Amino acid sequence: MTAPSNRMFRKNHFKLGTFSTNCSGGMTVTKIPERWDATWESNLAIGRLLDDAGIDFMLPIARWIGYGGETNFHGYVLETMTWAAALLASTQRITVFATIHAAANHPVVVAKQIATIDQVGRGRAGLNIVAGWNKPEYEALGLTLPDDHETRYAYAQEWFDVIRKLWDEPGRFDWKGHYWNLLDVHSDPKPFHGQPPIINAAGSGLGREFATRNADFLFTPAIDLARTAEEVGELKQQASAAGREVDVLTFSHVVCRPTEKEARDYCDYFFGQNTDWAATDNLVRLQFAHAQSFPHDLLALIRDRMAMGHGGFPLIGTPEQVADGICQLHAAGLGGTTLSFVDYTKEFPYFRDNVLPILEARGLRQPG
Ligand SMILES: Cc1cc2nc3c(=O)[nH]c(=O)nc-3n(C[C@H](O)[C@H](O)[C@H](O)COP(=O)(O)O)c2cc1C
Repeated sequence: MTAPSNRMFRKNHFKLGTFSTNCSGGMTVTKIPERWDATWESNLAIGRLLDDAGIDFMLPIARWIGYGGETNFHGYVLETMTWAAALLASTQRITVFATIHAAANHPVVVAKQIATIDQVGRGRAGLNIVAGWNKPEYEALGLTLPDDHETRYAYAQEWFDVIRKLWDEPGRFDWKGHYWNLLDVHSDPKPFHGQPPIINAAGSGLGREFATRNADFLFTPAIDLARTAEEVGELKQQASAAGREVDVLTFSHVVCRPTEKEARDYCDYFFGQNTDWAATDNLVRLQFAHAQSFPHDLLALIRDRMAMGHGGFPLIGTPEQVADGICQLHAAGLGGTTLSFVDYTKEFPYFRDNVLPILEARGLRQPG
């Protein structure tokens, strides 16, 4: 059973969220001094603005070491379970996800943590499952990243099976698996209204099989929209063959200004003149080496997009142009997108006042 009060389960509503407000730099690998600082004060401020505006969700990145370069992009990162708990306690309507590395977090602990924060938020918590890819980060944690995807996803599957059983099973039970042997275990409280929304953002074939078996939402980069539309169709088919429904979302980076020239001038400032290329190249190199989040043939073409918005779909220009871009994502079959801004708190109000009304008038989103 899924949670009816959670905004992520609204129908006919193109979902909007934010991504990476908990990480220094947000999604932009820039050296400008006013780049996103990711402090708790900044996160609380943006969380309340989003909640009041009727934005659907906040998705954090779980990161344990930064990407180096001059700025050490993603070097300062608020831990996502505790961040989500605090945001859920400070907001009323928005869904807040925790992003959890299966290998670094015991499933019995995570089942109870998510249930606890879902109680705090009265059914507004969500879980983004990371099966793992970032080898230096695993080494920093003293963990071994399996080289093959078979082992990564077999582990993640048992990890999530344990969690699901702890959420579903009213009484105690024993678990005898490959990775865990649990004796007379149980979990109380349960999530507030049944299973919270689950994200998995794998790009590999095996990862996507995992996602269509287990997740409600799967993320895919929007680089070539014709290719994205095909992918969305395939993923939905794959899910329905397994008797499930998944919604496919993407991530976008917004620079919205009254004129296109102002938007382009700002891009030239934070990106053209001030990109931290050493950190960007580390980000690209690690993606090539260990992950398939971005198809490798396209990854080679998007160094600029990686610098500007961590590979997100560029939504640059006037409110009308930004709304047109979001409509293109919708037309490709996507069910929603995350948004990032160089400075979330400073730039979101302009988006709220000028882009959201266009999306509502075009019938993409329900107001409120
Ligand atoms: C929207 C999105 C969010 C993600 N969040 C995280 C994260 O917070 N931490 C992390 O280590 N990986 C994150 N990932 C990476 C994926 O969870 C996955 O591990 C990666 O795509 C590699 O798996 P694959 O090789 O099966 O594609 C994210 C990817 C996307 C597209």
